[in-house]
Amino acid sequence: MLRRTLVQGGFAVDEAADAYVARRRLAAGRYLAVLTDLRLPGGSGFDVIEAAREADADAAVIVMTAFGGVEDAVRAMKAGALDFLTKPVDTEHLMLLVGRAIERRRMLTENVLLREDAQRRHGLPRVLGDAPEFQECLKAVQRAAASDVNVLLTGESGTGKELLARSLHQLSVRAKGAFVAINCAAIPEQLLENELFGHEKGAYTGAVARKVGKVELAHGGTLFLDEIGELAPALQAKILRLVQEREFERVGGLQTLAVDLRLVAATNRDLRAAVASREFREDLFFRLSVFPIEIPPLRRRRGDVLRLAEEHLERHARELGRRGLRFSEATCKALVEHAWPGNVRELHNCVERAAILAKGLEIQPADLRLEPAAGGPRIADVVDLSGTLADVTRRATALAEAEAIRLAMAEAGGDRAAAAERLGLSPQALARRLKPES
Ligand SMILES: Nc1ncnc2c1ncn2[C@@H]1O[C@H](COP(=O)(O)OP(=O)(O)OP(=O)(O)O)[C@@H](O)[C@H]1O
Ligand SMILES: [Mg+2]
Repeated sequence: MLRRTLVQGGFAVDEAADAYVARRRLAAGRYLAVLTDLRLPGGSGFDVIEAAREADADAAVIVMTAFGGVEDAVRAMKAGALDFLTKPVDTEHLMLLVGRAIERRRMLTENVLLREDAQRRHGLPRVLGDAPEFQECLKAVQRAAASDVNVLLTGESGTGKELLARSLHQLSVRAKGAFVAINCAAIPEQLLENELFGHEKGAYTGAVARKVGKVELAHGGTLFLDEIGELAPALQAKILRLVQEREFERVGGLQTLAVDLRLVAATNRDLRAAVASREFREDLFFRLSVFPIEIPPLRRRRGDVLRLAEEHLERHARELGRRGLRFSEATCKALVEHAWPGNVRELHNCVERAAILAKGLEIQPADLRLEPAAGGPRIADVVDLSGTLADVTRRATALAEAEAIRLAMAEAGGDRAAAAERLGLSPQALARRLKPES
């Protein structure tokens, strides 16, 4: 009768004929709510409460007690039951309690996620950047969001990998699901496996209850694996299986669990090189990099520096109660010219520091506390060194030529014939090179 009522109410129901079967079911499965009598063949309802709470510390257990069995009900609640029903069971009351129990379970899961999330962000900041290289990146994020492919975000430290991973999730059909992030470099291998896949009770000393891992929490949403390049070989194999088969086991678990998630990975390492040196599995690399997105460093989109700096200054000045803070002309120049090896994060930190150090409302270059780049500009700050040697040479040559032509034209006072002679070019050849984008 109970089963029929619950199924009619839209719940999926598993049954156990006695306490023994119930324990086995609970250890193996994932249940949002448990309904049990207190007197059962092969044990008591208290065994079931205990088993349910071992399986999931937040399990919602509802016990059924005989009419007038108030003492039993109180004992059951003390043992961890959420609520009780008196027999004969009133179906409306049953539906109400089960519905409420499931809602509570769902909210607890969300709270865990929210708590973790809140620590990392205070609202998703706006993604800023008009530079064509960065716009390309944003278009790629939008394309990826429209599909369900795995995405690999690469870029130097502080370029916005995590920010774009979150944006990707927000833009995707999974936006209602969870965005679960984990940093593979920040946690030792053993703990990381635990964090990722969870564990069963008794998987090792100290595993007193089942723990649900990040992979399970990301079900229906997006799993963000940050610094994937630091993943130990044994875990690489497990992530490969997760990506390929969409299944995994909890640590110490025999049951294979299925998940539905999108994987977004990020790294500031050259994964190709890690593959070449056999530190990173090639098969996993191929699986992850179905849709690679490379975020250019800030020094290759200098046009965005001021916008990023000003936006951050405004937000930060508001927090400090120093409205009206602004950069002086010379400060703007210094900001744009700096190489920003730590990219947007370094820029943000620098702006925050300057906002505090500034004496008046105008921030001076000295307030930025920028270290002059040692030994002049590094070639990598000027020329994009990715790709083949021929690519690099072509880019370096183009940059040097353009600068030499600009100088020659300036020195010749704009006289093309004179500039051409100085450069050893025919006037026609110079004219061709001066034409924008031939
Ligand atoms: N285009 C952008 N617009 C606005 N804020 C940005 C942008 N890019 C990065 N940021 C900000 O810069 C900071 C660093 O970004 P994020 O943490 O996403 O970088 P990351 O690539 O993950 O860095 P790391 O490799 O060091 O973990 C964050 O506060 C982020 O909000
Ligand atoms: Mg990051």
